[in-house]
Amino acid sequence: MQVLKTLEELQEVRRSITGTIGFVPTMGALHNGHISLIKQARNENDIVIVSIFVNPTQFLPGEDLDKYPRKDEADKKICQMCKVDYVFMPEISTMYENEEVLVKAPNKSYVLEGKTRPGHFDGVLQVVLKLFNLTQPTNAYFGKKDAQQLSLIQQMVKNFFLPINIVPCDIVRESDGLAMSSRNVYLDNQQRKDALLISKSLYFAASLIGKQEFSCEAIKQKMLETMSILDVEYVAIVDREFNEIQTIQKGNTIILVVARLGQTRLLDNIWL
Ligand code: PAF
Repeated sequence: MQVLKTLEELQEVRRSITGTIGFVPTMGALHNGHISLIKQARNENDIVIVSIFVNPTQFLPGEDLDKYPRKDEADKKICQMCKVDYVFMPEISTMYENEEVLVKAPNKSYVLEGKTRPGHFDGVLQVVLKLFNLTQPTNAYFGKKDAQQLSLIQQMVKNFFLPINIVPCDIVRESDGLAMSSRNVYLDNQQRKDALLISKSLYFAASLIGKQEFSCEAIKQKMLETMSILDVEYVAIVDREFNEIQTIQKGNTIILVVARLGQTRLLDNIWL
């Protein structure tokens, strides 16, 4: 495995690759969720590139950019274990100039995460476009946990005619159901226990739907009751285009929850 820091190193490597490339962009602090993306990339491609870059443009003022977990050495070991070929770990100054041409997420994305974190997706798209241009992958792997992010990246690839296949990957959970997230390390013991109510409420919603409850309002109400002790920011039931829906549409529904545990904002969802 080779660790690449500069554009020149990455570009030289890229020119030498002729086979298929699986790319996994990350912000580091790798956990089993990332590992499953990397393993899938490893199975499906000749060469695997992982990027580790805590992207400042996707954090809003006052968010956790400064305290976002950084675990470069552990991350490199994980990549080595997963038989990654190249890890790209650039400095901020390598990725950005002072004033840049920008990418703007469409207005319709200013709901849910886009509403709470206005500008966040512009920063995500900007860095992902840069990383796509640098790595020129065949396949790029993204978790369904960041459902809106995944959908916007798919739209960017379509709108900018990028010859890249986006591979959506299932959410990976702890054995008790908590969705894996680099931010889980912020949770104290009590918050870690309380956080389980998020996935419980989603499983409960799925079981209600299994019992023919298709009213989104009724399902949201019952989910909120399950999470009554939590500071829930939103529960939303949307179609795959992120339009709020009134009635569950099997095969075209995502149920999303965001809750705050102390300072930590956790999101989770299920696709039905
Ligand atoms: O999902 C993430 O970790 C980040 O948003 C991404 C896609 C690596 C861009 O910084």
